[in-house]
Amino acid sequence: MIEEKSTSVSLLVQAHELVAGVLLAGDTAVDATIGNGHDTLFLTRCVGASGMVYGFDVQQAALINSRERLEADKVDGGCYQLICESHAGMEHYVVGQAKAVMFNLGYLPGGDKTRITHADSTSAALLAAAGLIACGGILTVMCYPGHDGGDDEARMVTKFINELDSEQWVVARYNRVEAKRWSPYLWAVTRSSANSDPADNPTEL
Ligand SMILES: C[S@@+](CC[C@H](N)C(=O)[O-])C[C@H]1O[C@@H](n2cnc3c(N)ncnc32)[C@H](O)[C@@H]1O
Repeated sequence: MIEEKSTSVSLLVQAHELVAGVLLAGDTAVDATIGNGHDTLFLTRCVGASGMVYGFDVQQAALINSRERLEADKVDGGCYQLICESHAGMEHYVVGQAKAVMFNLGYLPGGDKTRITHADSTSAALLAAAGLIACGGILTVMCYPGHDGGDDEARMVTKFINELDSEQWVVARYNRVEAKRWSPYLWAVTRSSANSDPADNPTEL
């Protein structure tokens, strides 16, 4: 079941509030779309020097901007990795399970608006992220149906989320209070259990 929620704060702030409520010092987190590094910096602050943040973007400009942001904030270089690769391959880089994976779809603000995320690679990345998230962990996805190509991608995300096993995942969708037909929205998906199939958990039989 999908819980529909409306929020008066910006959806990016809402995503940070939800993720901050889950992450602890020492956790692993993933920024699947580094962009200008706002989410990467936020994640490094949440997990601290004993944690690890993996960031992915296909544009070098995003990595350069973000590294500058992290260095300006004096974040220990040993607690993050910025990877210039598609998020579709994130499982090849992330060590262990992640407590949070954040996606902010669309284009790099202030950058090339034609370099957007695409439904096919986003779909592969969501699957990889779902496989990496630890029990109690969270996946957030900011969708922009109003952007060119954003509507198809947003529909793919909705389909992906609708098909998640409701015994393992708790799903909420956040809209701004004044949201219109093409307004952005935020998915927040929390993993409640590793696998609730009793056949896979013999002790529960
Ligand atoms: C909306 S921006 C992200 C904003 C960012 N979270 C921030 O805090 O500034 C989306 C980013 O996704 C990146 N992107 C596009 N396709 C990608 C892919 N396949 N894998 C990883 N990043 C991708 C774009 O280059 C762009 O920088």
